[in-house]
Amino acid sequence: AKRVGILTSGGDCGGLNAVIRAVVRRAREWDMEVYGIKGATQGLMSRPVESELLDMKRVSGILRYGGTILGTVNKGNPFAYPLSDGETIDRSQEVIDGYHQLGLDALIGIGGDGSLAILRRLAQQGNMNLVAVPKTIDNDLGATENSIGFNTAVSVAVEALDRLTYTAISHSRVMILEVMGRDAGHIAVSAGIAGGAHVILIPEIPYDLDKVCDRLMNRALRGFNFSTMVVAEAVKTPSGEPVRYTNSLGQTLYGGIGQYLGDQISTRTNMESRVTILGHVQRGSTPSPLDRILGAAFGVAAVDLVAHKQYDRMVAWINREVISVPISEAIAQYRAVDVQGTLIRTALGLGTYIGEID
Ligand code: F6P
Repeated sequence: AKRVGILTSGGDCGGLNAVIRAVVRRAREWDMEVYGIKGATQGLMSRPVESELLDMKRVSGILRYGGTILGTVNKGNPFAYPLSDGETIDRSQEVIDGYHQLGLDALIGIGGDGSLAILRRLAQQGNMNLVAVPKTIDNDLGATENSIGFNTAVSVAVEALDRLTYTAISHSRVMILEVMGRDAGHIAVSAGIAGGAHVILIPEIPYDLDKVCDRLMNRALRGFNFSTMVVAEAVKTPSGEPVRYTNSLGQTLYGGIGQYLGDQISTRTNMESRVTILGHVQRGSTPSPLDRILGAAFGVAAVDLVAHKQYDRMVAWINREVISVPISEAIAQYRAVDVQGTLIRTALGLGTYIGEID
């Protein structure tokens, strides 16, 4: 039987376990054995390699679990592996040796752009047969319309916005929800439309704080003395400063633009504001039905690519079909929010303030 490894890399999100389950189920058809690698490339670096044979019993019921049963690591790039003194070393060969020691014929890697670029480099250097599955709550991979995890993150953000709307009404406040998305505004736009936000701010569109305040005050004048606002974490201050901080491990993280805007709005309008930073709640929850469907479709298609020896390719969702594209194409194409696209026009059509666009 062919031996196939599977790993989840980068940040977790809803739908990863749906992929793992689908891979194991489909593998039976092709008489393949599936080995789950623990902690992404970390598992292949360990000796003995940290893996487990995944059978039907092991994946039974995991469809509805959040996270990943395999674990993940997103700061352990094997080409620049961090040492405790802050230096880095190249441990890529250990990962490659781990793949061959396990006797793998192919590896299915589930990741976003950063992880897929690393996995591809490893595959090329070490003669590994790689098939990729796209996942990222940020939905910023260009070669696919949907990546696993985005829909779940949007669902969580919409639920939060619904809850915040009630408390906004009760207290006559401006409630600001800061959502994830790294450098993209996809979660903010979708959640803002679905949750009926009055203001949506995203990094792709510049905004004018005076106009934001005008919009909120106009609502109050028309008798709506509450508002909700969604802001993507990568939105900068009006003077163009990113709001980030570096923690004691040297990791640079987003977070805080919502608080900055809340203070500014309260000072300028005299309205009370409160800020919620939704954070990792968007990643770890029960996967939405759409992410389970995507996960299933991607898992089945990934195994079929392995069966047909179609390596160095990523499964993608285009026009309601699963297709495959070269991994190189997927990592080269970053997708920001389309400022001319339907969703932005929809927000504008609804009268939502979404920034300064012509
Ligand atoms: O890329 C996914 C993501 O959740 C981003 O939306 C966010 O900026 C980042 O990861 C957070 O990373 P970490 O898990 O390292 O805090």
